[in-house]
Amino acid sequence: DQKKRFAVAEQRYSERKSGRGVTEQEAWEDHQAQKARVSFGAKDKQKVVDGYEFVFDDLTGLVEESCEAETAKHRGCSSKTVAEKAREEREFLPIHGYRDELLKLIAKNQVLVIVGETGSGKTTQIPQYLQEAGYTKRGKIGCTQPRRVAAMSVASRVAQEVGVKLGHEVGYSIRFEDCTSDKTVIKYMTDGMLLRELLTEPKLDSYSVIIIDEAHERTLSTDILFALVKDVAKVRPDLRLIISSATLEAKKFSEYFDSARIYLIPGRRYPVEKLYRRWPDADYLETVIRTVFQIHQTEPTGDVLVFLTGQEEIERAETNLKGRMMDLGTKSSEIIICPIYSNLPTELQAKVFEPAPKGSRKVVLATNIAETSLTIEGIRYVIDPGYCKINSYNPRTGMESLLVSPISKASAEQRAGRSGRTGPGKCFRLYDVKNLEPTTIPEIQRANLASVVLTLKSLGIHDVLNFDFMDPPPETALLKAFELLYALGALDGKGEITKVGERMVEFPVDPMLSKMIVGSEKYKCSKEIITIAAMLSVGNSVFYRPKNQQLLADNARMNFYVDTENVGDHIALLRVYNSWKETNYSTQWCYENFIQSKSMKRARDIRDQLLGLLNKIGIELTSNPNDFDAIKKAILAGFFPHSAKLQKNGSYRRVKEPQTVYVHPNSGLFGASPSKWLVYHELVLTTKEYMRHATEMKPEWLIEIAPHYYKLKDIEDSRPKKSQRSSERASTSKVDTNKKTRTSKKVDTNK
Ligand code: CDP
Ligand code: MG
Repeated sequence: DQKKRFAVAEQRYSERKSGRGVTEQEAWEDHQAQKARVSFGAKDKQKVVDGYEFVFDDLTGLVEESCEAETAKHRGCSSKTVAEKAREEREFLPIHGYRDELLKLIAKNQVLVIVGETGSGKTTQIPQYLQEAGYTKRGKIGCTQPRRVAAMSVASRVAQEVGVKLGHEVGYSIRFEDCTSDKTVIKYMTDGMLLRELLTEPKLDSYSVIIIDEAHERTLSTDILFALVKDVAKVRPDLRLIISSATLEAKKFSEYFDSARIYLIPGRRYPVEKLYRRWPDADYLETVIRTVFQIHQTEPTGDVLVFLTGQEEIERAETNLKGRMMDLGTKSSEIIICPIYSNLPTELQAKVFEPAPKGSRKVVLATNIAETSLTIEGIRYVIDPGYCKINSYNPRTGMESLLVSPISKASAEQRAGRSGRTGPGKCFRLYDVKNLEPTTIPEIQRANLASVVLTLKSLGIHDVLNFDFMDPPPETALLKAFELLYALGALDGKGEITKVGERMVEFPVDPMLSKMIVGSEKYKCSKEIITIAAMLSVGNSVFYRPKNQQLLADNARMNFYVDTENVGDHIALLRVYNSWKETNYSTQWCYENFIQSKSMKRARDIRDQLLGLLNKIGIELTSNPNDFDAIKKAILAGFFPHSAKLQKNGSYRRVKEPQTVYVHPNSGLFGASPSKWLVYHELVLTTKEYMRHATEMKPEWLIEIAPHYYKLKDIEDSRPKKSQRSSERASTSKVDTNKKTRTSKKVDTNK
């Protein structure tokens, strides 16, 4: 049976090469055949070398003989400018041969699902085809991306191909950064940004085509967009909708969009040898580094792509690699290390796409972004430790965390495939695929939904529980979102959006942060609060701590925590910003104080935008720089659910949840004499549950600010007089244990 299917696949493939179109049914048979072919070829070709076990996946049915020649041809034209080359390369992409057919189908079908292997040219070419066919005369072409770096880098590539300046005809829009103009007709944006645009343009009138790209990633925003654009398409027959995906979920997409037509773009793929690590090192980064050198020393030319979980790990790998290169006497011109992750400064992003000079090998250290969003030419070797960071949410505790988790089988296949795009490849796997789940759970089923629910409410969607989700989220998560929004005053008792909620929606930040901003009006410190909000939004990259100057850096940082009365990371961030501003935004000052000037500039941009939004909703800019109580109360107005109380052993306990939490080692409060009550920005789970960005507060403020949330008993045993503290230790502990049982009982009744 498998042999028969294999034969069918072969025949289909040769038909495909002659450029014949594909019907929906055929596309599906094709997927099946393709799968059959993979399992047919993969049988019993195994050997063990250098601690790796080889498995040979015979994908030769997909090899296009002419491809190598074509690649060689376009590599040869070296006298051309980058833009000229980029334009020429368009013709070598797999999608090129399907251009006309694709355009015909788009003209005929309002909704089209396009499936094509990564790197076939979907993201960069389809918008250009549409522009060439005149679609931009009626409106913009919008193309969503789940990742900001992808939106930026693809836009810049397309601008190059079209031959225009980025931000003119071709631009991008990501949170806090709009690189478009009146001229822009091809607009790449994050899915979150299109969601926000719907708030002001519910029928997306300025667009003629919307492309929901990388649909297989199933991010929270993409999932919500599916339902919203489906509705828009119904009231706008002229709008064209394209759902583009790199994997075989097409059928599900098609069904969701009322049996929309599926079109398959065959990619080029060479066979990929898979090698499995039999005896992994205790630290997989060590295995990664050894494998890089193993490849470098024993394998023919070709670049290496390593999948890591995030910026921190990438930086660690880079340092280790460089160290090892020194030890081994490897010339720095031999191995060129290119990191790529979402917070990488724009000017460094381009480097990853530049071909390595002759005689050198590029080693790309990437996050998941290189799995399907970005295609880097010249990769022949993939090293895949098998992990990625996955956002998960516990609706019970309301805790969100980014956890390093094993990837899915589908991801493993995608990653391996990255090595076989321009020639036969090799994928070094440090794990056993048998243990992997088939696919990743869509984000909507493991995310905090507060922001989404508020957006939907603001769009006038009242019955969120019965919203047209492709895969519905757990009901508990929806209810938790409602609870939080109600507590924040964004929704009323009937679940309808309030004035406060309407104001909160204006800010492109999470509900607690937007409530903090809106709440600052009452405490007359909006100026300080938007600074704090901006600083919190740049993430944890404000302070710089170089390896050989950690002590100096720590001392510099503690200067912002001088005032013992008002200890806190929020206040410190405010001081950093204001001090920087006083020096007229000096880079030198940043340097001297171990502050990252790039982060500061970004904070300033974000702050400017928040300022504009304050203006828009009519909140006056008020300042009370020395009234720290007011500032802290405004913080609490948004973050009152994030309160924690010191325990005897030095750890903290959340006031409303039976959960032990700790001061984050990166906090200025770490190791300082502990404050009894803290409000924190977020919890991060690493070895323990850590509070990131915490500030001291007074428990009575909880009752003053959130009387509907906190009762006196929550803070009762909190105010023993200072002199009594030590003598009362014994009895306090009794109170504490009492409290523990009380809290856990409460959880039981909740169940
Ligand atoms: O979307 P899809 O995965 O089908 O392909 P694409 O992203 O449109 O990529 C098509 C080609 O453009 C690939 O050969 C990429 O290497 C190239 N590209 C690039 O050189 N620089 C970028 N920033 C993006 C794509
Ligand atoms: Mg793409």
